[in-house]
Amino acid sequence: MEGEVYYPSQDSIAKSYVQDWEALAESARKDLQGFWAERADELFWFKKWDKVLDDSQKPFFKWFTGAKVNIAYNCVDVHLQTYRKNKLALIWESEDGKSDRTFSYYSLNREVCRMANIIKAMGVEKGDRVTIYMGRIPEIMFAMLACAKIGAIHSVVFGGFSVDALHERISDSESKLIITCDGSLQNGKLVELKRIVDESLRHCPTVENVIVVKRTGHEVPMEAGRDHWFHDLCALPIANGKCTTEVMDAEDPLFILYTSGSTGKPKAILHTHGGYMVGTYTTLKYVFDINDEDRFWCTADPGWITGHSYLVYGPLLTGATIFMFEGGPAFPYPNRWWQLIERFGVSVFYTAPTAIRALMRFGEAWPNKHDLSSLRLLGSVGEPINPEAWKWFHRVIGKERCPIMDTWWQTETGMFMITPTPVVPLKPGSGTRPFFGQEAEILDEQGNPVADDHEGYLVLKNPWPAMMRTLYKDPDRYVETYWKKYPGKYMTGDSARRDKDGYFWIIGRVDDVIKVSGHRLGTAEIESALITHPAVAESAAIGLPHEVKGQAIYCFVHLKPGFAPTEDLSEELRQHVARHLGPIARPEEVNFIDKLPKTRSGKIMRRVLKARAQGLPEGDLSTLEE
Ligand code: WT7
Repeated sequence: MEGEVYYPSQDSIAKSYVQDWEALAESARKDLQGFWAERADELFWFKKWDKVLDDSQKPFFKWFTGAKVNIAYNCVDVHLQTYRKNKLALIWESEDGKSDRTFSYYSLNREVCRMANIIKAMGVEKGDRVTIYMGRIPEIMFAMLACAKIGAIHSVVFGGFSVDALHERISDSESKLIITCDGSLQNGKLVELKRIVDESLRHCPTVENVIVVKRTGHEVPMEAGRDHWFHDLCALPIANGKCTTEVMDAEDPLFILYTSGSTGKPKAILHTHGGYMVGTYTTLKYVFDINDEDRFWCTADPGWITGHSYLVYGPLLTGATIFMFEGGPAFPYPNRWWQLIERFGVSVFYTAPTAIRALMRFGEAWPNKHDLSSLRLLGSVGEPINPEAWKWFHRVIGKERCPIMDTWWQTETGMFMITPTPVVPLKPGSGTRPFFGQEAEILDEQGNPVADDHEGYLVLKNPWPAMMRTLYKDPDRYVETYWKKYPGKYMTGDSARRDKDGYFWIIGRVDDVIKVSGHRLGTAEIESALITHPAVAESAAIGLPHEVKGQAIYCFVHLKPGFAPTEDLSEELRQHVARHLGPIARPEEVNFIDKLPKTRSGKIMRRVLKARAQGLPEGDLSTLEE
């Protein structure tokens, strides 16, 4: 193999579910449906499927049609019938370290039933949407599972989003119920989630009730008739007792999750009970080799797909013990995460390159204070990991014993798509090869495969069970965005290259999606937030390389007459975006510009701004207006 290669140890091969990667890949290649049927057989179905894959209405693929199932039942109930009943399902620690809470599978079931009973009592029925907007606390997991249990469709909105983003997602989903908490803690600072909900709920006529979990205990206004404290509801008789699980069709929606696209408003990605369950279960099991002794820590927030698939659903499906931490990596000190790994004996640790880069900067002394010998496997997700960060993670955290699973996937794919398993030789910075049953290709503009080592558009060739089924309420946009450019192939929106060993190297987004610290943001949303400021006539947002964040947001603003381009105004505009869209979207810089580069038809040429800002050649300017 070419380049720098890290071969798996005999030990990690011996422990792996997949001893022979090639053989399993070959079996999936020969019989895709057979491969997935075998995996699905490991889970519980009220009724088995008639068909594994129905591709009669491409690209609207269906999986396990005719089957009856519920993902929540597989996450919780099935374990109660086994020795796992008294096993820890969840260990949670607060940001300040003053409290930790643990839940066995038995008590997880009680929590989920209680929440489900309450949601039902609020008049929520199968198919209704529920928006969940809270910090990283156990109740967010209970709320998601409770919705799934009764067949409601959850729409989790990341707690780092603010009023405009939340409002748009609540009204687009036409949610009946909001589940939130009074506030959350971020680096010791209070974020007033409930107040943000209140502001967002102006002009959201579909919302009938708001359930508020008490987390921070600060004073919050409660609107009589609409807002209810969760602990008050728990004291009511309706909260008690078991809640029956709704028997769902495999293709019934499980959740929608909004994600940013190239243009326009965020897209509501729709996932279903059956296929999503099989996909997340299988990938987690094979890629992280999850078994009963594991304590699995995924640092992602439940508000993103990583949190859905690999903090909540996947680990519970495999019956693992989840560790969930409310806070971030470096508060109050840069050893916070390492301390937690030591204290709770975390064995598999899955995080993002941006966090690794940030922690690297504080030096090795911080992790070296701690015994990290419980770790067995590491993982990375969200953006390309630079080899320097990979090697640091491998050497300083993994002590050169723990392979790193660099998993490439998307909100849309629901599960890992290009990823190693512990038996695959690793190259720092490459996600290696497609998962079993998948084939990827790198194409040029016309749809021809490019030569090895050349950059092109990354596409996926085969359907997979956890694939999104559509964009909620917008099937045309689903076809247009993902299946139109190369008919029959799924367009990822990423550029990549493949090396001579068949390893894939992701380069980045080819569209107007910006990945800030692994968070996916759209230029359109940032620009819409800016335009609501009275000084802004027009604006353009772009992503530029950033040492720690991967990419950072830079905005160019054309002011309305009468406004002066001052430092203060620039700062005010940064705050404005943070307040409206969310602190994660706060621009690195807001610069003023007399004229935005545009095509003759009036489209902003962000690529020209990007090139100018980096002092790079501006490329083809033939479509630029005079
Ligand atoms: C985009 C999807 C699903 C994981 C969380 C992000 C980038 C994701 C990797 C990786 C290089 C990666 C891609 C992709 N990305 N993982 N391991 N290596 N790039 O999900 O928010 O939907 O973003 O994240 O650009 O298209 P998402």
